[in-house]
Amino acid sequence: MSNEWEVLISAEALQRRVRELGEAISRDYAGREPLLVGILRGAWVFLADLVRCISIPIRCDFMGVSSYGPQTESQGLVRITSDLSEPVTGQDLLVVEDIVDTGLTIDYLLRNLSARRPRTLKICTLLNKPDRRRVEIPLDYVGFNIPSCFVIGYGLDYNQHHRELPFIATLPPSALSVSPPG
Ligand code: IMP
Repeated sequence: MSNEWEVLISAEALQRRVRELGEAISRDYAGREPLLVGILRGAWVFLADLVRCISIPIRCDFMGVSSYGPQTESQGLVRITSDLSEPVTGQDLLVVEDIVDTGLTIDYLLRNLSARRPRTLKICTLLNKPDRRRVEIPLDYVGFNIPSCFVIGYGLDYNQHHRELPFIATLPPSALSVSPPG
């Protein structure tokens, strides 16, 4: 299986870019204490590296989200599998996502979180697939824009596998399993 992977973003390039994002967040939120909301399960590796590149006080919480539908395609039917542990009214929320693809998941999350009346609500995503967008989303911090391919590694999975890879790789279509309809 490993021979089929093509590295799209190396571990070194990831670390460099995560450091830049951490520095930008530290500058932009200076004097405040943002609450970073990591979206499970894909964003935990990115979040773990990101917080260590931030030089101001922060807090972290998590939301678990699962999208219904075929394994590699979001249908916009989002289910919250675990919620934030505390109310977030009046706080500076920074949602930390692994990837924004169609945008349907983050659109749902933004609407859900803004109903809780935070002071500010911004998004930081490691990866962005702009060509696949189905709903306009204001992305405040983006690690990398990537083409419309399915990627794994650095927290991102295919069928719950490959999250442990230290780089981002493309999964060739031949590696995606198919099953008959119904
Ligand atoms: P969206 O709702 O289409 O933007 O999809 C968002 C979610 O789909 C992400 O949080 C990921 O969990 C998953 N996803 C989208 N593209 C990929 C990919 O290339 N690799 C792994 N997961 C992906």
